[in-house]
Amino acid sequence: MTSPLVVAIDGPSGSGKSSTSRGVADRLGLAYLDTGAMYRAMTWALLQHGVDLDDPDAVAAAADEVTLVSGTDPLEPTIHADGVDVAEPIRSDEVTGSVSLVAAVPHVRELLVALQREVIAGSPGIVVEGRDIGSVVVPDARVKIYLVADPAARAARRAAENGGADTAATEQALAARDRIDSTRAVSPLVQSEGAVVVDGTHLTLDEVIDAIVRIVDAAS
Ligand code: DC
Repeated sequence: MTSPLVVAIDGPSGSGKSSTSRGVADRLGLAYLDTGAMYRAMTWALLQHGVDLDDPDAVAAAADEVTLVSGTDPLEPTIHADGVDVAEPIRSDEVTGSVSLVAAVPHVRELLVALQREVIAGSPGIVVEGRDIGSVVVPDARVKIYLVADPAARAARRAAENGGADTAATEQALAARDRIDSTRAVSPLVQSEGAVVVDGTHLTLDEVIDAIVRIVDAAS
């Protein structure tokens, strides 16, 4: 019997991971897990509780008290923190500006990786997007993709998503977040062993999805 299909899609912010991962899951009839949304939801909950995010011990202690639930329908992914639907507030500037601090705390990563593995184990087939999926969460995933795009293309995409925000400022913010995500001590963003690099800079969303579906089909 072959193991359940897990497609790990890692890459930096703004590389188009979410739209791509949802599209691949929808096309292949798989579930979808957005692990970035989990780190964002944890950040939202800690902000609600007034936790000092510059204090890793306080973050770790408070994180134990937060309950996160992820819905895995690629057409309608959901995320709840302590029973509250946080799909919208986790995209706020406040959460976006603080999430790297929370994601750098080892105990937070332990908690969320365990939760992610539970969701993955309970699914017959799933696309999982994040930063450390192929390297840490599911190192034996059948397919590992490392999705990249030029910084300018990533910034233009994010700025458009944010209702026409300033592209240069967005590029700087993305670069700052990449730096923190790539240089943190625990599970930094890396291209994992065995990952196939897909560069979406000059491709449409559908072309990127096609490319990944072909890679999955070849591996099945
Ligand atoms: O993909 P995103 O922008 O929603 O991710 C939000 C933050 O969470 C980002 O700063 C990186 C972090 N993250 C992480 O450390 N590990 C993951 N598996 C997913 C996201």
